[in-house]
Amino acid sequence: MADFKEISADAPMADKALNWIDNRFPLSKMYKEHLSEYYAPKNFNFFYFFGSLALMVLVIQIVTGIFLVMHYKPDAAQAFASVEYIMRDVPWGWLVRYMHSTGASAFFIVVYLHMFRGLIYGSFRKPRELVWLFGCAIFLALMGEAFMGYLLPWGQMSYWGAQVIVNLFSAIPFIGPDLALLIRGDYVVGDATLNRFFSFHVIAVPLVLLGLVVAHIIALHEVGSNNPDGVEIKAHKDENGRPLDGIPFHPYYTVHDIVGVTGFLLVFCAIIFFAPEFGGYFLEYNNFIPADPLKTPAHIAPVWYFTPYYSMLRAITSEMMYALIACVLVAAYLGATRAKISSTLKGVVIGAAVVGIALMLAIDAKFWGVVVMGGAVVILFFLPWLDKCAVKSIRFRPDWHVYLYAIFVVDFFILGYLGMQPPSSLGERISQIGTLFYFGFFLLMPWWSTLGETKPVPERVNFVAH
Ligand code: HEM
Repeated sequence: MADFKEISADAPMADKALNWIDNRFPLSKMYKEHLSEYYAPKNFNFFYFFGSLALMVLVIQIVTGIFLVMHYKPDAAQAFASVEYIMRDVPWGWLVRYMHSTGASAFFIVVYLHMFRGLIYGSFRKPRELVWLFGCAIFLALMGEAFMGYLLPWGQMSYWGAQVIVNLFSAIPFIGPDLALLIRGDYVVGDATLNRFFSFHVIAVPLVLLGLVVAHIIALHEVGSNNPDGVEIKAHKDENGRPLDGIPFHPYYTVHDIVGVTGFLLVFCAIIFFAPEFGGYFLEYNNFIPADPLKTPAHIAPVWYFTPYYSMLRAITSEMMYALIACVLVAAYLGATRAKISSTLKGVVIGAAVVGIALMLAIDAKFWGVVVMGGAVVILFFLPWLDKCAVKSIRFRPDWHVYLYAIFVVDFFILGYLGMQPPSSLGERISQIGTLFYFGFFLLMPWWSTLGETKPVPERVNFVAH
């Protein structure tokens, strides 16, 4: 009782109520820590809208998801019809469903831009490594959430997409077939698969996502936000310990974010009301046909946000394995001759390369395709330790770094485009080059990021009042 803060008996009711709560729960303390006294750099730009937009889309997905579950039937015999029922008979059901389906694509657009911001401004670097790691875990969870959600309408693409992806697991040596069986709950995608994907999609993964988002923001608020200049604002504080280049998140950025939210909602609503299928990119046309296990669609492609990774999967043919083996050989040679490591470690490098090449020759290319596809996401976790540039933000890196980042983005788009197309020999070749570039960009980063002359980094952030 000793720590209880007393309040005057004449204080307004609201103040008394708040005091009562504050004596039992750190409400005002949290409000100050995360909003009114969280000092964010004053030079945030367009790219800094996407964190709060990701939060908003998360809320949209959860709320619309709750209403969809009220009418949806997780049963292979009824699922497709229940979605049609939502679209035609449930009052406002079409709106709720289109908000949820458009929200899925919007989530990935927002999160990709959010990650891109982190990449170009070096927001993943010390001291924000954990913010980035939580972010990468969020991205993985989001991919799982989207993949399992896509099975639920039980259309042709839901069914065959899940069939293709779950079958990939069977390429894993020894445990693969059993693992695929465990995921499906049956020998083919069926009612058991639908039930377990439903359970994961509506409760397990959203819980994990929410927990990770909370951890992501707590970690960020512990170290403070980065900014487009990559300058630490905590290095210059006033006599009260407030960063000179910081402004309270509330009201400045809460109001600022209204601009982002308005712009986002304009586009979001335009898509929902005028083009909810978005030319087959957000809702594939084949998914308006009920799942038919006896009729494989001519061309199975995942939704756009997975296609860059799908392209990488398809790029790993048995021919491509030779290119990968050559890469391992070059890496081992460089490690053994050039790296400044002990001779024991050099031995380990050579040994690992020999074992790696033996496995690459022994195991089917399909398995390595799965490894490459998974590796494309896993590699993001290592980014904080791959980038060795003397400066954080792209603004002060050598100009050619900018071009390299630009090529990386173009490469990602090309891979994404190819992943939507039916297989072709030219597409296969381009996706192989694209895959090598994607991995080269990250794996060679410790080397290329140190090259070239960086520009002088200012002491304080650049800011022009507007
Ligand atoms: C549900 C998904 C996500 C939500 C709701 C979310 C939310 C947020 C919020 C609210 C911020 C602070 C505002 C801002 O800086 O924009 C932030 C910052 C950040 N996020 Fe995320 N995030 C998500 C996913 C990700 C992912 C997938 C990554 C990276 C893999 C990531 C990396 C970062 C980084 C590095 C920062 C610090 C940026 C800086 O200070 O410059 N986030 N996030």
